Formats: sequence, structure tokens, C-alpha cells
Amino acid sequence: MSTLLSTRPLDTVADFPAIPSGWAYLDTAATAQKPQPVIDAITRAYAQDYATVHRGVYQRSASMTYAFEAARERVARFIGAGAADEIVFVRGATEAINLVAHSWGQRLQAGDRILISALEHHSNIVPWQMLRDRTGIEIDVAPLTDDHRIDLDALEALLTPRTKLVSIAHVSNVLGSIADIARVASAAHAVGAMLLVDGCQAAPRLAVDVAALGCDFYTFSGHKLYGPTGIGVLWARADILAGMPPWQGGGAMIETVSFERTTYAPPPARFEAGTPHIVGALGLAAAIDYVESIGLDRIARHEDALAHAARDMLRSFNSIRLFGPDNSAGIVSFAMDGVHPHDIGTILDEAGIAIRAGHHCAQPLMERLGVAATARASFGIYNIDEDVARLAGGIEKVVRIFG
Ligand code: ALA
Repeated sequence: MSTLLSTRPLDTVADFPAIPSGWAYLDTAATAQKPQPVIDAITRAYAQDYATVHRGVYQRSASMTYAFEAARERVARFIGAGAADEIVFVRGATEAINLVAHSWGQRLQAGDRILISALEHHSNIVPWQMLRDRTGIEIDVAPLTDDHRIDLDALEALLTPRTKLVSIAHVSNVLGSIADIARVASAAHAVGAMLLVDGCQAAPRLAVDVAALGCDFYTFSGHKLYGPTGIGVLWARADILAGMPPWQGGGAMIETVSFERTTYAPPPARFEAGTPHIVGALGLAAAIDYVESIGLDRIARHEDALAHAARDMLRSFNSIRLFGPDNSAGIVSFAMDGVHPHDIGTILDEAGIAIRAGHHCAQPLMERLGVAATARASFGIYNIDEDVARLAGGIEKVVRIFG
């Protein structure tokens, strides 16, 4: 390995009971491992404090409601939201984008346009295609630069007065490319479009401040941020949420119901039909406490150093092709001549290294890169430079086996 960490290791691995010694977990972009404080918060919520929220008149339910709403406030502070009411709890970023497509999307009509990019995850493509099929809108796709970032000059050239929404990833789940969201927000707003940001890979890796970014919607999933699965966040400014119709009907989202007419609760309850993922929200708040106790700036520097080390190491193999820019946020995708990424993943697994191999829910991006699949190493706060050294050893084994 040619590059050592330029920052001190974060020394957090002992906090993660599911990471045994000697196992290099390099699949954090798919889902992050859970630190003990998150596991403890979930256990405490189920084993000690559990009750429903917003419905019970008894003390336990009142306490749980208080904790649930405190979690919402915690999320709001984490991303610089103006108020806790701007935070809608959803199952994950996928559900958040579907919510916006179903609810906010109702105002669109044939001829309106949505602009996405060539590196989007399927969850930021398919909901807009489904909306297109319902309404007749058009979808434009911003191309990538040669080093696989969203080409912002080309994106700006695609904006028209008919563009109603730009929807892009803050950090690519395949390439780690970081988009200049503030620039995209200014350009989108200049033509009267809104900006939705898929922050799934950014929230665990970069300090996010939605006010400074200037976007209109921001989404992320709890499980990639060291929290539980099944909980995620949709943030939008209060005035935007207030103008959006509900998308799912049921308990909790209403004001009054009769057989003739129903009126709806104000946001965020309007978008949270049914009993919410109470314990998920508490686990997410614990995860935010945990990552903030380390510091997002330190995490960003740590993962940047690991990604650079991995790129330098992979570059030393002639048969390896790297994707994405040099400054990628903790995510490194690569392909090897004559070896299917699944074979790379299987051989690495035998060597105690977990990576993801496949299309990463980004088939149009694979087409743009000219491959069916890539191998992807993605880093988290528990990774250390020895993990990059292990990856190097694993790749040497792949080379030996495939000649
Ligand atoms: N979006 C997740 C990934 O990139 C599933 O692996």
C-alpha cells in the first residue's frame, strides 16, 4: 500500500460488535454497521420504554411521544433544518423520493420537465418515470464529465423554464463523486425549478446544512448513517410541505374524518400515515449523536484518506480500471480485465473482505461506464488503513487465480 492515512485513525471499531477482528467491511455504502450506542438505544426502547406515540393518554406513551419528537428535533439540528416540523419520517430515501413524486408531483402536467443525472440510483430515476407515465412530463438527463462527476455546465444548459424539478445525488453511491449542490440550487432556482437532493451517501460522510446548500428537498436513510433500517428522512422547507397533498391515507395523518369528507393534519403528520417506526427514530437519533461525537469533518477526512489510499493501491494493478474522480467521498468502484466483479467479490470474501459487486442499482450509469457491473469498496468510520492493505492482498489473490 503506497499511501498511509493522513489523519489519525478514528479508532472506533471496538464500538461495532458485529465487526470481528480481521474482517474488512468495505460495504458501508450499501449499509453501515451499527455502533453499541445505537444498539443500546434500540434495546432500551423495546425492552424498557416501549409504547405507542401520539395516541396514548398514559404516562409511558407520553414519554415515548416526547422521545420520538425529540428525535425529530435531533434530525432537524443535524441537517440545519429551520424547524422539527420540516422533518418527515419515512422508511428511507427511496420512500422519500416516491413521496415527493406522488404528492408534490401532482402539480406537474404534460410538457413539464424533471432533470436528473446519468449517475442516479434507480430510486431517483424510477419514481420520476412512473410520474411521467401518469402525467406526460418529460425527463432530461445531465451527462457526466470524463472523470465521472455530474457535468454541471451541461446540467445548466439543460435547464429550461419548463424544468420544474432538478433531482440529483449529493454523493454518487457508485463513484463517490460529490456534486456542488449550492451551484445547482442557484441554477435551478434561476429558471423557477426546485431542487431535490438524494443525500443517502452524503449524510454519513459530509457535514450537511440544507440552508447553506439552498436545496428544497433533502433525503437520506438511517441505515447508511449507522442507524436502523426502515427509517429515513425527507426534509423540505415548511412552506413547501404545507402546499403538498397527502400521499397515503390512514391514521395519524388526519384532522377529522367523516364518510363525506376528511381533512388532513398539518405536516409532518400529514405524510406519516399509520403507526410510525418509533424505535427506528430513536435509533436514528442515537446514530446522529454518535457520528456527531466523532465529528463529520473528521469522518470526511478519514474516509477521504482511505479512498485515496485505495485508489493509489488499485492503480498499481495494470489490469484494474478505476471509475470516478480522485476526490471521491469514501467510495471507490473498479473493474478488472477479464474478471467478473462477482468473482472478485467472492474471492475477496474468502479473504475476509466484504465489498459489493454488481450494478449498484444504477444500471444506466453502468451503461455510461461501459460495463455490466463494478466492484465497489466503500469505507466507514470503523475502517483503518489495514483494511486497504487487506484489500490489496485480496486483489493480489484475484490476480493470481485469474492470471
Ligand atoms: N444504494 C445502496 C448501495 O449503493 C443499496 O449499495
